[in-house]
Amino acid sequence: MTALPPRGRSAAAILDDLDRLSRDDVDWRSGRAFSLAYHAGPDVEALAELAHARFAGSNMLNVAAFPSLRAMQADVLAMVGDLLHAGPAAAGSITSGGTESLLLAVKAARGLARAERGVERPRMVLPTTAHAAFEKAAADYGVESVRVPVGPDFRAVPAAIEAAIDDDTVLVACSAPSYPQGVVDPVAEIAAVAASRGLPCHVDACMGGLVLPMLERAGEPVTPFDFRVPGVTSMSVDLHKYGYAPKGVSVLLHRDKRRRSFQAFSTDNWLGGFYGSLGVLGTRGGGPLAAAWAVMNRLGAEGYLGLASEARAATLELAGALRERRGVRLLAPPDATLLAFGFDDADAFAVGAALARRGFWVDQQSPPPSLHCTVNAVHRGVICDFLAALDEAHEEVRRSGSRAEAKAYGRAE
Ligand SMILES: Cc1ncc(COP(=O)(O)O)c(C=O)c1O
Repeated sequence: MTALPPRGRSAAAILDDLDRLSRDDVDWRSGRAFSLAYHAGPDVEALAELAHARFAGSNMLNVAAFPSLRAMQADVLAMVGDLLHAGPAAAGSITSGGTESLLLAVKAARGLARAERGVERPRMVLPTTAHAAFEKAAADYGVESVRVPVGPDFRAVPAAIEAAIDDDTVLVACSAPSYPQGVVDPVAEIAAVAASRGLPCHVDACMGGLVLPMLERAGEPVTPFDFRVPGVTSMSVDLHKYGYAPKGVSVLLHRDKRRRSFQAFSTDNWLGGFYGSLGVLGTRGGGPLAAAWAVMNRLGAEGYLGLASEARAATLELAGALRERRGVRLLAPPDATLLAFGFDDADAFAVGAALARRGFWVDQQSPPPSLHCTVNAVHRGVICDFLAALDEAHEEVRRSGSRAEAKAYGRAE
C-alpha cells in the first residue's frame, strides 16, 4: 500500500511520473483506440484542456455562485437542442455522461408514470441492443427491464415492442444508433407505438446525437430520429463522444419542463437547508462543461460537419474493406460511425487479443461473438494500418486455432 509521501514532491518529478504511468496506455491520439476515446486534433484538445483547467475548481452543485457555469449550461443545452430540433418548450440538463443521462431518463419516466397513473411496479420496454446503462437504471431505480429481440438487421422491431407493453410500462426506448451493431432503430414507428399507448419514448443518441444531424446536412439519408419525430419525448447526447469534449459531459433533453421535473431530487430533511439537484451527483466540477462549451464554439457547425464527414468516410472505408475479406462478416451496414464484425474461421476474442498485441484496442462483444469499432475523425488516416494489423491477427488466430475469453466492455475495479 502506498502512503502519502512524507513531504511534497516537485511538480517536474510528478509530471515525469504521470508520463511514465501513461506509457502503456493505448495511443488514442494516433487512432489506435476504436473505443473509449475521441480526438479532433491537437488544437481542439489544447483548447479543451485550457478551458477544463480554468473551471476545474468550480462547482456545478450551485450555479448561483457561478453565473459562468449557468451561462455555459444554457448555451450548450440550446446548441444541442437546436441541432435536435427540440423546440422552445424543451428542458434539459448537463450530466456527467451517457450513463447518467440514461439513468435520469428512466427515473423521470418512472416519476411521471407514478404521478399520472399511479404505477407502482414500473417496467420499461427496450430492444436487446439498447445500452447496458439501461440495466443499471433498472437496478438502481427499481424498474423492470423488458428486453425485446431485434430483427436480423439488428434493428428494434416496433410490433415486438408494442406486444411487450402492458399497464405497468413507463417507458419505451430505442437507439440512434445502437452501440453494439451501430444501426439506427426505426424511431418514428417506435415513438408512434409509445404515443399511441400514452407512453414516453427515449431516444438514446449518446453516439449519434452530434453525428446524425451532420450526416443529414451532408445529404446522407438519415432515419428520422430526433424531436421532429412525434412521440419522441427525451433524448441523450454525449458531448464527450462525438462532441470531442473531454470526459464527463453529456446532455439529457426532455420535450418539456414537466417531464424534466421528474428527474429532480430535493430534500430539506437534514440540518443543512434545501438541497435540490437535477442529477445523480452532488458536487461536480465545471471543467467538462467549460471544455464542451469551448470545443463547441471552436468547431462550430462547420467543424462538426467536417469531423462527422471524416468519421463517416473512415467508417465506410473500413466497412467496405471488411466486406471484401474472406472469413470476416460485417454484422450490419453501419448507419453512422459504429460497426461490428465477426469471423467464420477464427475466434473473435482471440483476434481482438492479437490486435491488442499490435497496439489496436477494439471492443469485444457478444452475442454474437464479434469485434466492435467506434470510428471517429482521428481514424481517417489509420484504416489501412488497422486493416494490415487485422489481417495479421486474423491469420495468426486462424492458423493457431487459439481461443480467448472476451475482454470486458466496462470493468468494476
Ligand atoms: C448508445 C450509448 N448509450 C449510452 C452509453 C453510455 O455512455 P457513458 O459510457 O458515457 O456513460 C454509450 C457508451 O458507449 C453508448 O454507446
